[in-house]
Amino acid sequence: MSVENVPDPKIIDPGDVILRVTSTAICGSDLHLYGGFVPAMKKGDIMGHEFMGEVVEVGRDVKNLRSGDKVVVPFTISCGSCHHCNVEEFSLCDNTNPDAEACEAAYGAATAGLFGFSHLYGGYAGGQAEYVRVPYAEVGALKVPRDIEDDKVLFLSDIFPTGYMAAENCKIKPGDVVAVWGCGPVGLMAIKSAYMLGAERVIAIDRFPERLAMAKDQCGADVINYEELSVLEELKKRTGGKGPDACIDAVGMEAHGTGLQYAYDKTKTVLMLETDRPIALREAMMACRKGGTISVPGVYGGLLDKLPFGAAFAKGLTFRMGQTHMQKYMKPLLAKILEGEIDPSFIITHRIKIDEAADAYEKWQKKKDACVKFVIKN
Ligand SMILES: NC(=O)c1ccc[n+]([C@@H]2O[C@H](COP(=O)([O-])OP(=O)(O)OC[C@H]3O[C@@H](n4cnc5c(N)ncnc54)[C@H](O)[C@@H]3O)[C@@H](O)[C@H]2O)c1
Ligand SMILES: [Zn+2]
Ligand SMILES: [Zn+2]
Repeated sequence: MSVENVPDPKIIDPGDVILRVTSTAICGSDLHLYGGFVPAMKKGDIMGHEFMGEVVEVGRDVKNLRSGDKVVVPFTISCGSCHHCNVEEFSLCDNTNPDAEACEAAYGAATAGLFGFSHLYGGYAGGQAEYVRVPYAEVGALKVPRDIEDDKVLFLSDIFPTGYMAAENCKIKPGDVVAVWGCGPVGLMAIKSAYMLGAERVIAIDRFPERLAMAKDQCGADVINYEELSVLEELKKRTGGKGPDACIDAVGMEAHGTGLQYAYDKTKTVLMLETDRPIALREAMMACRKGGTISVPGVYGGLLDKLPFGAAFAKGLTFRMGQTHMQKYMKPLLAKILEGEIDPSFIITHRIKIDEAADAYEKWQKKKDACVKFVIKN
């Protein structure tokens, strides 16, 4: 990872705008690219899919934006007119991934293009930059009030809608207990959202004290440090023996673990005999109550070993997952921010300049300096 000078982006398609980026964040998904877990990155690729800024140039087909507008851009690039966009499955858009063949070969079908997310997802230049080209801007870029601080609305670009969709996928009913693996930015947003959607109690699982403290103090969750307690035993104990009604895996493919299981997955991924380390997912499948739901916002990339599918079958579990259908959630969640129901900026621990970005990646990967979220300010 390095910070380099590159040519400024230009309008290529009449549906583009050029954005001067004012704030951009580093995401847990960036770590999967940084860690080499997602193939199809090329030298010189520009990272970044969580960004906002000021429109400085507008393509001739973009009718709803003007130079000077302040906008937040979703990480999914969607055409707004294909079947999937029409049914609000924006991350499954049929038309925005120029690498459709590679994606089809890997997954059986191509999904939407994503900013800064490898040549499986279109190879689009990302927004951890001073300027970025935003294709299909009319469908994606959301205008926000000029006087609102960037920090309050920046996370509409990904993690707030992602946490919200993860909670919505749990189909929460009054009295429900939701367990959330991972107290990173996505997990914390999922906890907040689960309460907004009516969960009675959220139990959050991680090992970093600063993250568990945020889950407890800022989001109102009960917490479990998985290095100190057995997660399966604790969840049973805290739910009267039946298990949580819904389980959210906000960890994804690079889970950490204790004991033999972690050694197994580490060795198999190093030997390329397995692509992902599904430690949190296995635990969620075992913990979930009969008839419950597993919601997976955490990203998985390929082939997972030793998933207790028999347990999922026997208990009749429902699985919901995927990249977030961003454009469906941005407007209603902006309204919640403007009404004061939530201020997602509480997760920001580090504000940096772009020159410090390469160093920030290293810190973020190792969770040094008690970091929870890095925001780059231009
Ligand atoms: N679905 C989407 O559209 C979408 C969008 C954004 C991010 N994501 C994904 O969500 C996941 C989380 O992102 P983030 O930004 O919060 O990342 P993060 O790296 O900050 O958070 C992951 C957290 O999981 C914890 N963890 C690791 N192993 C664990 C285990 N076995 N049990 C419990 N906790 C464990 C880590 O300590 C860490 O706090 C990533 O996989 C990311 O790619 C998905
Ligand atoms: Zn992200
Ligand atoms: Zn589409």
